[in-house]
Amino acid sequence: KQEGQPLRQRQRLLVVANRLPVSAVRRGEDSWSLDISAGGLVSALLGVKEFEARWIGWAGVNVPDEIGQKALTKALAEKRCIPVFLDEEIVHQYYNGYCNNILWPLFHYLGLPQEDRLATTRSFQSQFAAYKKANQMFADVVNEHYLEGDVVWCHDYHLMFLPKCLKDYNSKMKVGWFLHTPFPSSEIHRTLPSRSELLRSVLAADLVGFHTYDYARHFVSACTRILGLEGTPEGVEDQGRLTRVAAFPIGIDSERFIRALEVPQVQEHIRELKERFAGRKVMLGVDRLDMIKGIPQKILAFEKFLEENPSWRDKVVLLQIAVPTRTDVPEYQKLTSQVHEIVGRINGRFGTLTAVPIHHLDRSLDFQALCALYAVTDVALVTSLRDGMNLVSYEFVACQDAKKGVLILSEFAGAAQSLGAGAILVNPWNITEVANSIAQALNMDSEEREKRHKHNFIHVTTHTAQEWAETFVSELNDTVVEAQIRTRQ
Ligand code: G6P
Repeated sequence: KQEGQPLRQRQRLLVVANRLPVSAVRRGEDSWSLDISAGGLVSALLGVKEFEARWIGWAGVNVPDEIGQKALTKALAEKRCIPVFLDEEIVHQYYNGYCNNILWPLFHYLGLPQEDRLATTRSFQSQFAAYKKANQMFADVVNEHYLEGDVVWCHDYHLMFLPKCLKDYNSKMKVGWFLHTPFPSSEIHRTLPSRSELLRSVLAADLVGFHTYDYARHFVSACTRILGLEGTPEGVEDQGRLTRVAAFPIGIDSERFIRALEVPQVQEHIRELKERFAGRKVMLGVDRLDMIKGIPQKILAFEKFLEENPSWRDKVVLLQIAVPTRTDVPEYQKLTSQVHEIVGRINGRFGTLTAVPIHHLDRSLDFQALCALYAVTDVALVTSLRDGMNLVSYEFVACQDAKKGVLILSEFAGAAQSLGAGAILVNPWNITEVANSIAQALNMDSEEREKRHKHNFIHVTTHTAQEWAETFVSELNDTVVEAQIRTRQ
């Protein structure tokens, strides 16, 4: 910069997601304690120097009173977060209902809910109405904070209606939308009663992004087949207006994991774990307790492996971290009992007085404990039935440069497209295949482990979350400029 020249102002990025990256606990009428999640997206966006990120979203708590709302807004402002307040009924219909009981399972190929038809229709309509209402509430908050020149980046299936609401407010706003889940085949999307309205709302964005080329292709096919629009190599065209559609595979802040392994507490933790599981190979699963993660199938495959490989029974342990999630949705409650039942049965069957084959934890671990666990693992099992990307696989690889453990990875996770060459890819529905892969992984020689690990480690450390965010935002800026040029022509 030349002397006297003002510093170029960084572009403001408004990141809009259903959930703010904080957990908020109320301590009194007007006091809150906030815990900022240092996870993926947050560190990705904070690391990008070109723009200054602000978050807009739901704080995950019901705050019915004005005093509480004001205090929370003030506390969040210090963390660059802006809350959207949703009341309990909206959360029930929009978040538990339309988002997590309808869109989430559908986008992961688990179909629409199968209850009694009439009841489903009625609840479907009211849930969709609540979904639109909630999206409008997000749009109101964005609009209130928007300044000319800002970029607005909407995230995920909760906010498919948002691009349209924002463009209705201000057609010049730069709006991007990114889906963190798979976008299913158009044949699946077709079953959704609100299929067209949702597609049209997303198309209001300037740039629409997915983790993989396949998801982008499915989206374009849905627009051509369901809406009769034209798909082009750049995206979807509607009466001369192009919505750019492309793949932007997310990554992690790999340095953060690699650095953590040097921290004395983590090293102490690693020593403890090694001692605790001495003489046994450690297999690890880390998942939200969600039906898409294929936890029952994974545990059944482990049982089959133990059944068929008696010599391994006292030489291997499976640590399954299952983080409770969306616990108000009945499907998730059913899954919890199902998993507990299977784990109990297998431990009863193969456990001894001194050791059990499966350690199942219904809770999350703090970052340092998680890194230590990744580092001592011999085989990680990421066997989602469907998964947008799955960053547990990336985190595991980042922590394995010393050990060079094996990754067993579902071919239905987006990560299979980037880590496929280093991992053992499996069809998670095929329990025999997963059991055989466990045997293959445990018996793999060090040369092959090293070769596979190297491939994945290079990928994980070079395709980071920061690069992902930069690419998306710079493409969004370009898209808008191109559209302006086209309009002038
Ligand atoms: C997935 C979704 C995210 C969501 C996360 C946790 O990764 O793509 O948008 O935030 O799950 O789920 P929750 O419902 O607790 O926000």
